[in-house]
Order: sequence, then C-alpha cells, then structure tokens
Amino acid sequence: MADNPKITPPEQDPKVSTLSDLPGDVPNEMQHHSSFLARHHIIERSPTLLLVLSFLVVTIGGIVEIAPLFYLENTIEEVEGMRPYSPLELAGRNIYIREGCYVCHSQMIRPMRDEVERYGHYSLAAESMYDHPFQWGSKRTGPDVARVGGRYSDAWHVDHLMDPQSVVPESIMPKYAFLASAEIDGEHVEDLLRTHRFVGVPYTDEMIEAARADFLAQADLDGDWDGVEERYPGAVFGNFDGQPELTEMDALIAYLQMLGTLVDFSTFTPDPSR
Ligand code: HEC
Repeated sequence: MADNPKITPPEQDPKVSTLSDLPGDVPNEMQHHSSFLARHHIIERSPTLLLVLSFLVVTIGGIVEIAPLFYLENTIEEVEGMRPYSPLELAGRNIYIREGCYVCHSQMIRPMRDEVERYGHYSLAAESMYDHPFQWGSKRTGPDVARVGGRYSDAWHVDHLMDPQSVVPESIMPKYAFLASAEIDGEHVEDLLRTHRFVGVPYTDEMIEAARADFLAQADLDGDWDGVEERYPGAVFGNFDGQPELTEMDALIAYLQMLGTLVDFSTFTPDPSR
C-alpha cells in the first residue's frame, strides 16, 4: 500500500477518522447540540467505564422486569380441569424423560395458525403448571405431542412404541420394545408424589396414601377405578399394553393418552386481561 502513490495513508486521508481524532474532527460528523452527548466519547473510549455503566443499565432493566413478578400473586391463569398427574401417569412421565423423548418431541403448541390447525388449541401456561421439569422441548424431529392424548388407540401406541416403522413406514423414531418387558410395581411411587409435592404440586395426604393402590388400579381391569377417577378426574383407564403384567409401557401409554385432554376447550374462554 505504501508503495502505491495513488493511495493516501489513512491518517492523512481527511475522509477517514482514526482513534487519535479529537471530537469534532471526525469528517461528516454531526455536531452534538447538547454538551452532554458531546461527552459520550469519554464512555466509549474507556472499556472499564463502558462496562460498569452497561452493567448498571442492564441491572435497572432487569429489576424493572423481574421485580413485579414477586408481587403478583399468580402469573398463570387458572384453568378448569387441570389436576396433578395420577401416580401411573407420573411414572410414565418419568419414563418419557428418562428415554429422552423430549429430544425429538416438543409439548408446546404455539399460537400460530399452522400449529393450531395441525395440533389443536395452543398450549396454555396452566397446562404445564404441574410439570417439574416442564417438557416444552426445543426440537421437533417428531410432531408435538402436547395433545396426543386420545388421538390414537392404546393398541396403536403399543405397535408404534414396539416398532414405529410398522405403523408409520417412513418413521425415524427408535424402537422402545424393551418397555413392554420392564415390569414395574410402583414401589417408589409414594416418594415420587412426595417429591412433587415438595416442589409445589398440591398432592394431598390422601393421594399420597393411596398412591400405590391408584398406581396399580389404573391399568388393572379389576382395579378400583372410581377411587382413581375421584382423585384424578379424567384419568384414562385400561390394560394399556395388553399384557397381564404391569410394565413401563403401560405407564408411558397412560401418560401419552392423557396429554392435553384435561382442559375442555369447548367451554374455555381466555381471560384477555392476562
Ligand atoms: C429420534 C427422534 C425420536 C425420538 C427419540 C422419539 N420419537 Fe416419537 N416420533 C418421532 C418421529 C419422527 C415421529 C413421526 C413418525 C411416527 O409417527 O413414527 C414420531 C411420532 C411419535 C408419536 C405419534 C405422534 C403423532 O401425533 O402422530 C408419538 C406418540 C411418539 N412419537 C412418542 C414418543 C415417545 C413416547 C418417545 C420416547 C419413548 C419418542 N416418541 C421418542 C421421532 C422420535
């Protein structure tokens, strides 16, 4: 560059501003009308000062956004029909998490036309109020499953989990056949409910006491379905996997079959003030 006489070195070029320019020397720069703004260069040229002041601005912005949340009684609109998971559903949900189903499936229908037409009513905050942790997900290799409950028969789910390609030939979902031979007996289900109560799910003492019995009853054709229904209205009953033993497949299907079915959207009207 230096050997090319046609090119002016930047520090001599009147159209180029360099760090050593004083304020006011920068070509084409509009003069500040206020002396306060004219001194902004002091901040811009001191990284420490810039950092300290940026931090201050972000802190104030953060407080303005976060502080009101501590004074609001409730940020979630209460919705009729929502109830804590039944013990069997909760166990199924644990299997869903353990197997990483959330890596391919989301559980959040966004309020956009294509989503609502495909999956149904957009998800409400209240619909995941008993989810610890929530299963919204961030990846859809497969479809959203927030409202998959009742869409297929139990037998379809068994076939699909055993060998997804047997019902959807182009599916890339892995096989989960081993769930059908993994027997469960609800040994720790009381503790599971207690843990969820600890983080805020309103399980009553009665629910916890009956947890093991409810766990076994929901998938048992001779079980006390009335008791489960009373404690967990809208629960789905049946021998989900069609085998005499109670397996992880039963629990997972009990969970899948209730997803998105608790709120009755034919009577739900959103509160516009929320
Ligand atoms: C590698 C990604 C992947 C994983 C992991 C995965 N799935 Fe899927 N899933 C898919 C794809 C792709 C489809 C769509 C094709 C099909 O129906 O098989 C699908 C479809 C489904 C459907 C049918 C949804 C509908 O509306 O048609 C259900 C239910 C389902 N998966 C449940 C599960 C469960 C439960 C697990 C965990 C045990 C799981 N999936 C794990 C990819 C995955």
